[in-house]
Amino acid sequence: MKQAIINIVAFFLCCLTTTANQSILSEKTDRFTISVIGTGYVGLVLGAGLAELGHQVTCIDIDESKIAQLEEGNIPFFEPGLSQLVTKNVSERTLFFTTKYDSIATSDLVFIAVGTPSNSDGSCDTSAVFSAVETILSISQTTKIICIKSTVPIGTCCKIEQLIKEKQLNNALEVVSNPEFLREGSAVQDFFNPDRIVIGAHSQKASDSIKKLFSSFISKNIPVLETDLASAETIKYASNAFLAIKISYINEIAHLCEKVNANCADVAFGMGLDKRIGHKFLKPGPGFGGSCLPKDTRALLHSAREVGVNFNLVKAALETNQHQKELILAKVCGLLDDDLGGKTIGIWGLAFKAGTDDIRESSALYIIEQLLKKGALIKAYDPIAMNNCKKIFPEIEYCNSKEDALADADLLLILTEWDEFKTIESSNLRSGSRLPKIFDTRNILSIVKLENELIHH
Ligand code: UGA
Repeated sequence: MKQAIINIVAFFLCCLTTTANQSILSEKTDRFTISVIGTGYVGLVLGAGLAELGHQVTCIDIDESKIAQLEEGNIPFFEPGLSQLVTKNVSERTLFFTTKYDSIATSDLVFIAVGTPSNSDGSCDTSAVFSAVETILSISQTTKIICIKSTVPIGTCCKIEQLIKEKQLNNALEVVSNPEFLREGSAVQDFFNPDRIVIGAHSQKASDSIKKLFSSFISKNIPVLETDLASAETIKYASNAFLAIKISYINEIAHLCEKVNANCADVAFGMGLDKRIGHKFLKPGPGFGGSCLPKDTRALLHSAREVGVNFNLVKAALETNQHQKELILAKVCGLLDDDLGGKTIGIWGLAFKAGTDDIRESSALYIIEQLLKKGALIKAYDPIAMNNCKKIFPEIEYCNSKEDALADADLLLILTEWDEFKTIESSNLRSGSRLPKIFDTRNILSIVKLENELIHH
């Protein structure tokens, strides 16, 4: 009973709010001086987005070549709309890039948006976050808030608070957890139209400051959840793991559909019509990849184990994801009579999803590696991810067009759902070239259209 009362109290402590109160940032102006440490996907979109909202932003990165590139207006990765946003704000002198940490000394607020990659045991490597914190503590004079954007294990922000206490600084420095929910490929759009803003803090004043920073979103009635540090950190992991579970679930439903002759697209659509389920993240594919879902589900599993929680669902989502890649390989082998030696496989799509040149943990990498081991010859095409892939597989053939990857292939394997892969027309076949077997792991081709276009012509 006592536990129940505590839980109810704890539940109500996390409240949804849309009002901005008193903040520890300047009351006179809504324009803050901000430093962002880390210019990866998250840091760069955040920095440019905050500058566009009217703040004065300096983006810091230790990578000199990256900063040099950014100063010249070149974005080191593909992200729609980001280049324009950066160029505009650099020319308006609201956005600056540097390898030096000087701006921290005079910033109101410092965001940490550095990478938190996986360790070999699946745990999260937070060394870059703590090194950034140490740097801030050594030079900060006016900073009032350290805001953690990087995805960090639950409890990390409290550890940072402890570090600050131990340093006994003159300025009262607060820690805020403000997790990011941007998706690669639509990150700029997501920045300006978030589903929610999550603010984890131990003081109302710190939380109010972040609300002030994002006041233009709040005035558009975007929900704000104010909670404690650990809950904000957990929301990020729990959200990504939930998406991972949803994808693995539909991948397993797709296998079942195949065995029982059900149409998986209809099944997913029928499920999605239930508003409690929704249509999003119900597309079967070659398994989830990218720099977040695989890494964050591993880290959540690791954190849960450390506190004695047996997280069977998250474990199963990861196992299903690996199994998905094995199943695709087994099918490819089956389609090529279990002998891949000397067979040519055309691959359409290397990126972990459409809309990005990112190949981190893309299922294509594992599949290509295994196909090569089995003696297959690979002809790959991706509209923007080939340069990244060349660094990992210099030995495969990269084609200038989807037609080239298709020509003389024994099998066409579609791994990424780029729009240009959604149709195959007779004009896509080189003269004299026959249509190979096709394995569409994203279910983007219409068999009816294919038959009309290729078989009946
Ligand atoms: C993911 C989350 O969606 C973002 O909310 C989060 O902010 C981000 O991680 C992060 O933590 O930084 P992202 O990695 O850009 O975003 O990619 P998603 O769009 O989530 O896709 C992940 C993988 O799932 C891709 O390989 C995609 O092809 C696959 N997927 C997605 C499916 O196979 N089926 C679907 O229905 C949806």
